[in-house]
Amino acid sequence: MQGLMPRMGIRHQLTAKHSITFIDMAEIKCIGILTSGGDAPGMNAAIRAVTRSAIFSGFKVKGIYRGYRGLVTDEIVEFSTANVSNIIQRGGTILKTARCKEFQTPEGRQLAYDTLKRHGIDALVVIGGDGSLTGARIFANEYNFPIIGLPGTIDNDIACTEYTIGYDTAMNTALEMIDKLRDTTQSHDRCSVVEVMGRNAGYIALNVAIASGAMAVLLPEKEFDMQRDILDKIAETQKTGKRHFIIIVAEGVGHAQEIANEIQARTGIDSRATILGHVQRGGSPTLRDRVNASAMGYQAVCLLEQGKYNRIVGMKGEKLVDYPVDEALEMTKSLDPVLVDVCNTISI
Ligand code: F6P
Repeated sequence: MQGLMPRMGIRHQLTAKHSITFIDMAEIKCIGILTSGGDAPGMNAAIRAVTRSAIFSGFKVKGIYRGYRGLVTDEIVEFSTANVSNIIQRGGTILKTARCKEFQTPEGRQLAYDTLKRHGIDALVVIGGDGSLTGARIFANEYNFPIIGLPGTIDNDIACTEYTIGYDTAMNTALEMIDKLRDTTQSHDRCSVVEVMGRNAGYIALNVAIASGAMAVLLPEKEFDMQRDILDKIAETQKTGKRHFIIIVAEGVGHAQEIANEIQARTGIDSRATILGHVQRGGSPTLRDRVNASAMGYQAVCLLEQGKYNRIVGMKGEKLVDYPVDEALEMTKSLDPVLVDVCNTISI
């Protein structure tokens, strides 16, 4: 794994031109961790890595339950290394999670700040998706409070990283389900329209479409035309003798049932819609998610230890990266056009 930082000795190499915000290391004694937004497999591995790295480096660690809500309502427990044993293989998050409306208000954030002060927590590691990291950014800027963000969401829609925690597992779970669907779709000469998660992004959809050998994929990033992208393709594929069809629809496109109904009405092919839904958020994390989450959790503590804070950690290939939170959350990324081509070319 490249990009891992040595535990000490980096600080003297850093200068103001790197636009890094420094805090006196001596000021940070206790790190709080929370998971927020939709859960994602690998969050536990990240909690474990942050806790163990922090304790190893002499910090106190406090687990905050139910995301930002736990800060508002004061649900906080001190963690030892034992609190995080036997969790690396478990899906979900032992810290629980929530989407907290109150934290979106200045009054809610004031309550959160008061709770942090009461517990002596002087830095926060936030594991979550776009909304959760945006919350951390606002809080950090408002209270000048040290935060490190770890991208945790199955959607992979955080631009500063190629892989978010949970994305790999969710894709593999969806793939396993689609492989099973193919069996019954084939036996009945049917068309299966399968909706996968991803919020407004098509990362899961595109990758599982390629990996499952789907006939077509509908992505929120690309306009689609029913006649051209589905009906003509079915007709063409039928000429080769094919009698069953798998179509992947990204959640951001939606309407799986309507699409299945239209295919049936216009082709006569018996069609079914399957919405995979929250099953994609569960299950034991893959090796990739465990390794990424462990490395990112370790890196979060290294950054705090070196006095670098208000940053988001990410993965670029095998390399760990980190960016100032303001810059990280302004970045954009898009689907790899080559993968879109791969999918369209070999999907017939
Ligand atoms: O962000 C993760 C995600 O699972 C999205 O793919 C989906 O749009 C959303 O969360 C579902 O949220 P909820 O669990 O609140 O239904």
